[in-house]
Amino acid sequence: MLQGNEMPRIGRSQEEKTRALLAKKEQFVAKGISAAAPIFIESAKGAAIRDLDGNTYLDLYGGIGVNNAGHCPPEVVEAIQAQAGQLLHSCFMVSMYDSYVELAEKLTQITPGDHAKKAMFVNSGAEAVENAVKIAKLATGRPGVIAFEAGFHGRTLLTMTLTSKVKPYKYGCGPFAPEVYKTPSAYCYRCVFKSTYPECGLACLEHFERFFVSETAPDNIAAMIIEPVQGEGGFIVPPREFLPGLKEICEEHGIVFIADEVQTGFARTGRMFAVEHSEVVPDLMTLAKGIASGLPLSAVVGRAEIMDAAPPGRIGGTFGGNPVSCAAGLATLKVMDEQDLPARAAAVGATLTTRLRTLQERIPQIGDVRSLGAMVAIELVTDPATKEPAKEATGRIIQECFKRGLLVMGAGIFSNVIRFLPPLVISEEQLDAAMDIFAEACDTVFAG
Ligand SMILES: Cc1ncc(COP(=O)(O)O)c(C=O)c1O
Repeated sequence: MLQGNEMPRIGRSQEEKTRALLAKKEQFVAKGISAAAPIFIESAKGAAIRDLDGNTYLDLYGGIGVNNAGHCPPEVVEAIQAQAGQLLHSCFMVSMYDSYVELAEKLTQITPGDHAKKAMFVNSGAEAVENAVKIAKLATGRPGVIAFEAGFHGRTLLTMTLTSKVKPYKYGCGPFAPEVYKTPSAYCYRCVFKSTYPECGLACLEHFERFFVSETAPDNIAAMIIEPVQGEGGFIVPPREFLPGLKEICEEHGIVFIADEVQTGFARTGRMFAVEHSEVVPDLMTLAKGIASGLPLSAVVGRAEIMDAAPPGRIGGTFGGNPVSCAAGLATLKVMDEQDLPARAAAVGATLTTRLRTLQERIPQIGDVRSLGAMVAIELVTDPATKEPAKEATGRIIQECFKRGLLVMGAGIFSNVIRFLPPLVISEEQLDAAMDIFAEACDTVFAG
């Protein structure tokens, strides 16, 4: 049984069971469902993962930002077990249960802003985004949506349209949803205006004056949706004026401001939600991933009058806000509060960033180190002067880490970013071990 404080241990080679499962995966699972690491997990605890062959890995991707409270937190597992024995499903839209309402109340309390708020639940991040946009359209009577280059919002038709990475996410899947407009995000390392912050005067904000003349009228736009830190796009942290500037534009034109906190939410960035760093109060927020420690659950939370623009039955679904997921959500929030995980995220982020900046001093191909709390990434380039994306080296470093017992994953519109989303309960010893492995992997790739 894993305790959670294990160190990486790799030694056992693929046994018969793993080989047989890999062959079955190849034969029976659709090719589009890719898997980066050729392992099958036997169990996971805290920040440690054990595979079927008995190897132990340190997890620095946290189920892609889901296991913020660690793998299998005991309080959450207990809440799930208790709820599973009582009620697995009823569909809240037919006959109700308490955990849905309790979690809705809790989310309205912990999200920014002291105005009246309401919440609704669905199952995935993409579904939350779909519903937030739908609600904004109903509230404004307008059809359009503004999204940002390098953004990621999901894989359904609308959310794929809102997303900005052609391969693998969109290629060959058109035609896309209509009335979606894209504008540059504040990706300062690769500024599309070829400018530098702060001398740029935030050209990406000023650009809206022209955008509202050349692309669409603001009174055509129901919502603007943005990730406070762009996740899949490569952990792009905007300058602090960017989000408040966007909010001001939305207020001026009656556009609903949607913060997509699917990846940034639930203690990850050192606050419960990343928008809190900029003091922006969104009209609507989309939440998922870390909300329920791994059970499928997502939410739209926001201004009561906007949320109520959808009449009964126009939003919802069979499984949305399932009782077991809601119980897991309530228990997860309790753990985050009791263990002060936002503070822990800040400390984890500081350790990672310090180690990566030190590494950057001797490895010039680490072009940029970016972070907000424990959402940390490096962008790899072949040459810091040209900033040509080092996609191949990125893949090789991830493989070298894997060989040594460290699980990390890529990101970035150019696939040249390595991101770190460790479970926030990871110990300092585990973090140090992870960074030692990471440094060794970088040395192997760049020295070799
Ligand atoms: C910001 C953001 N929005 C939406 C999604 C889609 O979530 P899901 O994969 O649960 O549909 C993701 C997934 O990575 C995300 O990072």
